[in-house]
Amino acid sequence: MPESLSVTDNRTGRTYDLPIENGAVHATAFQQMKLDDEDHGLLLYDPAFLNTASCTSRITFIDGDRGILLYRGYPIEQLAEHSNFLETAYLLIHGELPNAAEYAAWEHEITIHTLVHENVKSFMDGFHHDAHPMGMLLSTVGALSTFYPDATKIYDEEQRRISIYRLIAKMPTLAAFAFRHSRGLPYNYPDNDLSYSGNFLSMMFKMVEPRYQAVPEIEHALDVLFILHADHEQNCSTNAMRAVGSSHPDPYSATAAAIAALYGPLHGGANEAVIRMIERIGSVDKIPEFVAGVKAGKERLMGFGHRVYKNYDPRAKVIKRMADQVLAVTGTSPLLDVARELEKVALEDEYFVSRKLYPNVDFYSGFIYQALGIPVEMFPVLFAIPRAAGWLSQWEESLLDKEQKIARPRQVYLGASSRDFVSMNEREVQRPTIVAAG
Ligand code: CMC
Repeated sequence: MPESLSVTDNRTGRTYDLPIENGAVHATAFQQMKLDDEDHGLLLYDPAFLNTASCTSRITFIDGDRGILLYRGYPIEQLAEHSNFLETAYLLIHGELPNAAEYAAWEHEITIHTLVHENVKSFMDGFHHDAHPMGMLLSTVGALSTFYPDATKIYDEEQRRISIYRLIAKMPTLAAFAFRHSRGLPYNYPDNDLSYSGNFLSMMFKMVEPRYQAVPEIEHALDVLFILHADHEQNCSTNAMRAVGSSHPDPYSATAAAIAALYGPLHGGANEAVIRMIERIGSVDKIPEFVAGVKAGKERLMGFGHRVYKNYDPRAKVIKRMADQVLAVTGTSPLLDVARELEKVALEDEYFVSRKLYPNVDFYSGFIYQALGIPVEMFPVLFAIPRAAGWLSQWEESLLDKEQKIARPRQVYLGASSRDFVSMNEREVQRPTIVAAG
């Protein structure tokens, strides 16, 4: 027997049977619940999408209560241990792990697209020396659309493919150029003999040596971080990618919008905010005062809490272990001790326990980036590089989904009802009441 939901509209006394499909009810089924013919039907009010599925997807699965994250069915812990970022990106985009020939072809395509047009360097040069690299990244990714006008042919599979290669390939180049610009250093061109993460580190840090070879443990750690950040189902930036993509612009423009969404401190900017917060706390003895401030609502404990995870974020578990491994190579950080103690205090505190607030992916990732010599303002950029693979797989899935249309939410209007225009000299002067001091 098909699953259904019976709803009685107590305004009219009528009962409706709504089909349940895949654990969801179509919101449009509520439109038939009307008071009269003039009524547009019942709306579902859900600011911030707390309980609204905006799409069906076959890419990433999260069970927030049990702390499970799967890409195309594969547990994130297994991918972090056995895969590399490019293979994981292939999995996200294509739905299956590649065989050896498919992987070689994919790696080749990404590698040959790492260069950017020379004019991009002129845009970079136009930014102030202290411009935030995330701002530089989002502007230059958006600007890429002007170099590839054919990218607007989004229903041409070949064009989609090449845009995907270009975006995954060029994000590290643009990110490294942004960093080099902020340091006043010459731009390093890609080295196509290096791995994806090895090449990124080379473009970031190569000085005058003929070839930059990253420390293998560091190259590996960065690659694992890229895997962990590659996708996370319908988060704020992915929703931006899908929503902007739904009006059918080229994918460079949609990716720039997704980067803008990721920029905020509540999303991809949180890893930067965590380090600034820990630096501010400074030492273990200041933790009680800081935690008291958080509990009093003065600020948030950055790197804690998640809309979906009500348990330890599985990515944070991998990162915490990796932070220890990386710091064993690069030398320990006193701030990491503060973070560990802060985590311990928070996990034992009733405020955090009762709200199911656990460390998320951003709590420890910054310590690894710092140990790699990457400055804090680059942290969100390091989130954006791998997330491009997730955004693009979600964008393509959305384009090919026959149920999708241009994203256009409804609203519950609470403003003034219709009224006549009043000329300026007839308007009553409304001034804020000034309370006299003293
Ligand atoms: N510190 C202190 N209190 C918190 C925190 C926090 N980090 N996060 C949530 N709360 C409290 C919040 O004040 C509320 O308490 P009350 O019920 O008394 O009003 C309760 O927990 C529920 O919070 P919420 O704001 O309704 O939860 P949300 O799902 O809207 O927010 C979040 C999720 C990630 C924006 C939020 O937890 C937060 O601001 N965390 C800090 C920023 C952060 O680390 N962001 C990275 C997220 S993971 C990477 C990514 O995917 O972007």
